[in-house]
Amino acid sequence: MNKLADKKHFNRYLVTSALPYANGPLHIGQIAGAYITADIYTRYLKSKGEDVLFVCGSDEHGAAITLRAKKDKTTPKKIVDKYHSLIKSTFEDFGINFDIYHRTSSELHHKTAADFFTVLNDKGEFEQRTVQQYYDKENDQFLADRYIIGTCPNCAYENAYGDQCESCGSYLSPKELIDPVSTLSGNPPELKETTHWFLPMGKYEGWLKEWIIDGHKADWKTNVYGQCKSWIEGGLNPRAMTRDLSWGVKVPLEEAEGKVLYVWLDAPIGYISATKQWAIDNDKNWEDYWKKEDTKLVHFIGKDNIVFHSIIFPIILKAHGDYILPDNVPANEFLNIEGRKVSTSRNWAVWLHEYLEDFPEKKDELRYVLCSIAPETKDSEFTWKDYQARCNNELVAILGNFVNRTLVLTHKYYDGIVPEIANQQYNSVTDSIANVPNKVGESIENYRFREALGHAIDLARMGNQFLAETEPWKLIKTDEDAVRAILNTALQICANLTIVLEPFLPFTSQKLRNMLNLDKLGWENGTKVDNLKAGHQINKPALLFEKVEDEAIEEQKVKLHS
Ligand code: MF3
Ligand code: ZN
Repeated sequence: MNKLADKKHFNRYLVTSALPYANGPLHIGQIAGAYITADIYTRYLKSKGEDVLFVCGSDEHGAAITLRAKKDKTTPKKIVDKYHSLIKSTFEDFGINFDIYHRTSSELHHKTAADFFTVLNDKGEFEQRTVQQYYDKENDQFLADRYIIGTCPNCAYENAYGDQCESCGSYLSPKELIDPVSTLSGNPPELKETTHWFLPMGKYEGWLKEWIIDGHKADWKTNVYGQCKSWIEGGLNPRAMTRDLSWGVKVPLEEAEGKVLYVWLDAPIGYISATKQWAIDNDKNWEDYWKKEDTKLVHFIGKDNIVFHSIIFPIILKAHGDYILPDNVPANEFLNIEGRKVSTSRNWAVWLHEYLEDFPEKKDELRYVLCSIAPETKDSEFTWKDYQARCNNELVAILGNFVNRTLVLTHKYYDGIVPEIANQQYNSVTDSIANVPNKVGESIENYRFREALGHAIDLARMGNQFLAETEPWKLIKTDEDAVRAILNTALQICANLTIVLEPFLPFTSQKLRNMLNLDKLGWENGTKVDNLKAGHQINKPALLFEKVEDEAIEEQKVKLHS
């Protein structure tokens, strides 16, 4: 990715992760897509002392919610209350460190979204159109796209939704479906007239070409750039920004009785209302984050959200005026599980809250694996076997082993007191240590999180190799000065590990700091080799990681298949 984009100086960061629908628990595919990466990015920037705001919240409107309520024979309100609190606490548990986790059912959000609509409407940005739409007579309601299924015109899959075919991935409009039926009544729907407010997106094609196709070729990920380019070049049709539904943000116009905002207009505005709520709670100015050109706005999402975040929402922001646009939209592809696509309806998923119940002491293990296999450039695959191998061969055997050997020897030889270096003998190691933060940082800033984690783990690998080569346990009999220098150096590596690993493995970093009796250090300290002073007393070591046993893996496989 280009260096030019990096040259622009930003004074603050606004980072968002896609608002998950509050219609079910979180699964690890979502985490690998839009949350773990954003969490690493923001933890890193915060460690560097940057002004960073990381916002998220529940997406509580749209057909995803009402469908779920119908299935569960309950109300949308009960569904969102239940899943909002489950999702919020699951994120917290897993160490996804949002500055605020808001919700779109809040009053503040309803007002923010409705006001946004009013501004656009007053500026004449919408076209009102009367259209024919599918209607379910038995239930006396217009059908949201998701409520209509039929045969896909592209691949003949029989259960395609009105907005998208999950088999071939193509975006559809309900009228393209062959033999449509209403999922409410099971009957073929009728066409009925209704009026909606459309956003004429075609008007923005020229601007989008300049901004994205010419302007972001070098710095947006190829998967994102490619999707945007083909959308823009395919021509942008007007898109209705209102819906005939009762659940959602009411359209703030008298003549729009019974209509709500389209969920893809409403939800991204949730980033703005979350910022407002955070500003109220923290006595800050929300507009600094949304209206100042020296703010870098970054949206972390999954690939199914690309068009909404890089085309539709930017058009909306642009049409409103005064708002900044995203500097980047680092979307990930999908994470498959044991050879199959995640399917929440068929329960083919690893649910994060269940993982946390089964492995309460292994949060960082999952964070580690999900970052290592993050679907950055193409779909990737989670298997329990691979999870086990990465935990045991990398976390236990490299990181855990290095730290343990260092701390045990320090206790054995020096009662846990950091030894003094008499004469500096290990310059090549200390030079490489000092390089690590820059490498990790550069990869993170270019949204290459797998590579960044690799650089961070390399520090532990270097430490392991250093001990293996110098063999202090042998030298102790012949050269005590050398052993002091070796263990001092190894301890500095441990201290620096607490810094460079923190964005990825915050729980482990904390545990290691406790063992080293060390306060949290900022990123700049990662280049230093004297973070632990000679004479400093460290605490007793405990194992950083326990092996993942075969039985645990077998249990999880059984659970997945049940
Ligand atoms: N709820 C959507 C999804 O899970 C994402 C909404 S992101 C937002 O796909 F920008 F609209 F908030
Ligand atoms: Zn299809």
